[in-house]
Amino acid sequence: MCGIVGYIGNQDAKEILLKGLEKLEYRGYDSAGIAVQNDNGVTVFKEKGRIADLREHVDTDVLATTGIGHTRWATHGVPSKVNAHPHQSTSSRFTIVHNGVIENYSMIKREELSDVSFVSETDTEVIVQLIEKRVNEGNSVEASFRLALKSLKGSYAIALLDNQNEEVIYVAKNKSPLLVGLGESFNVVASDAMAMLQVTDQFVELMDKEIVIVTKENVTIKTLEGEVIERAPYTAELDASDIEKGTYPHYMLKEIDEQPLVTRKIIQAYQDINGDLTIDSDIVRTVNDADRIYIVACGTSYHAGLVGKQFIETMAKKPVEVHVASEFSYNMPLLSEKPLFIFISQSGETADSRAVLVQVKEMGHKAITITNVPGSTLSREADYTLLLHAGPEIAVASTKAYTAQLAVLAILANVTAKATGKDVNFDLVQELGIVANAMEVLCDAKEEMEELARNYLATTRNCFFIGRGIDFYVGLEGALKLKEISYIQAEGFAGGELKHGTIALIEDGTPVIALATQESVNLSIRGNVKEVAARGANPCIISMKGLEEEEDAFVLPEVHSLLTPLISVIALQLISYYAALHRDCDVDKPRNLAKSVTVE
Ligand code: G6P
Repeated sequence: MCGIVGYIGNQDAKEILLKGLEKLEYRGYDSAGIAVQNDNGVTVFKEKGRIADLREHVDTDVLATTGIGHTRWATHGVPSKVNAHPHQSTSSRFTIVHNGVIENYSMIKREELSDVSFVSETDTEVIVQLIEKRVNEGNSVEASFRLALKSLKGSYAIALLDNQNEEVIYVAKNKSPLLVGLGESFNVVASDAMAMLQVTDQFVELMDKEIVIVTKENVTIKTLEGEVIERAPYTAELDASDIEKGTYPHYMLKEIDEQPLVTRKIIQAYQDINGDLTIDSDIVRTVNDADRIYIVACGTSYHAGLVGKQFIETMAKKPVEVHVASEFSYNMPLLSEKPLFIFISQSGETADSRAVLVQVKEMGHKAITITNVPGSTLSREADYTLLLHAGPEIAVASTKAYTAQLAVLAILANVTAKATGKDVNFDLVQELGIVANAMEVLCDAKEEMEELARNYLATTRNCFFIGRGIDFYVGLEGALKLKEISYIQAEGFAGGELKHGTIALIEDGTPVIALATQESVNLSIRGNVKEVAARGANPCIISMKGLEEEEDAFVLPEVHSLLTPLISVIALQLISYYAALHRDCDVDKPRNLAKSVTVE
């Protein structure tokens, strides 16, 4: 992961870089640095910790109109000032920031750079030292950059400064995202358009194995062989206010509250002029031509996939398998004759998912990406894209993207079912409208959710989530949310499975959050609650209106039984949020995590 920025123009670069990095902090936040360049050469500032810590150490007297910056999520080497980027070559002539993983860095170190003494434990330092070596061998800087890139195996997004030439930032990418932003007498570089919306909304997409020579007046894209490529810019359709917290204390709370609006936006985005749900006919045909669907995703998106399977199998009657991307490549199931792959990824950049996409495309299979980010790698590389329309999600713990994924999956299931004349005996537009209203009720129930978090989770070490059927899948997501942001050890289980092992962990007072939204399994899940309560657990039952009993801790407003995950999850998101707040955790930037995981 990690985030990269660069600026070359007439203004002081420091503030533009720092502001850009603040917008990229979701990509990693264990250390950060900037390098700025003026007539006196390059000055590097870096610190362990957040951008705010870096900001305190940047000397405001150093004025410079060229610079690069980086926010890090450690892969090679612990989070520390010395491992923080930028890194410099031995002579300090070259300064680099890098996002990605260089797989053959130790081989390059051994075979090409055995006489170099390295300062950090990072793979990145190898790149900058290799560039310096090629320059010392008599190559131009650009040629050295290209030669060095040709030796690298792995993923990279790179920005490079040469202290003998203030007029250029050298840029390249392979597998890791990177954009160049265009301005009047300035140009910028960023891992994500969000970082540079402060100065421009015009961006040029970069492709793998290209290098870019960025000056304040020009952006020249070339292949690694030096051939110039022309590419038109696009306008980033992001509203700068979408990426601000406004009056909210945390992005996560803002994003939880946005869910009713996002659901309504999705209904609109997928409606035709008659108000009927619609999806590109090629996509519908592709789904209906397949004999089996393989959903591949990670984290929260994987949990959305599990619910999506339920939607597609129930409505479209098509078999679906759901797989964790990081396992799929080397643990591939036997595929059916006409498989279709659906990748679900909020960011559209997750390296584990992308690796599977590349693999299945090579095998000649069709793929659809469901993502929140138009133009993201997974979107570009799949045959088709379905967008989430959720607006930027900044908090590391995913909330609105999950419910948006569910809404889009429900629409996909519904439209493909109808296209083959399957009897879907409910009006999804109307039912999603009811869901959006019910979401509002949940968002207004913050005090109750805070009380539940206080009553059940204030001091606990662990917590279990149980449910049956679709509630089990939501329980998995509830447990992920809780552990991500509050560090309470939390696990989701199928209600019937507890007695086969996990019940051994139930002690006096262990909180067990049980979801009871499905009539068909209501009695069984309540039976499981009795089993854990008999062993000392402190059960918290969240039920659906119509199924409630007196002992229940919270009753959700009624929605269609297939769509309950879209609202029950909001209760779990809010409970997790308050549990994390009560423990003084950094809700938006939990320890050890990053939002966009661009390493495998
Ligand atoms: C990271 C995030 C998770 C997210 C997962 C998949 O691990 O911390 O919140 O669910 O990546 O991300 P994606 O962008 O592919 O949905």
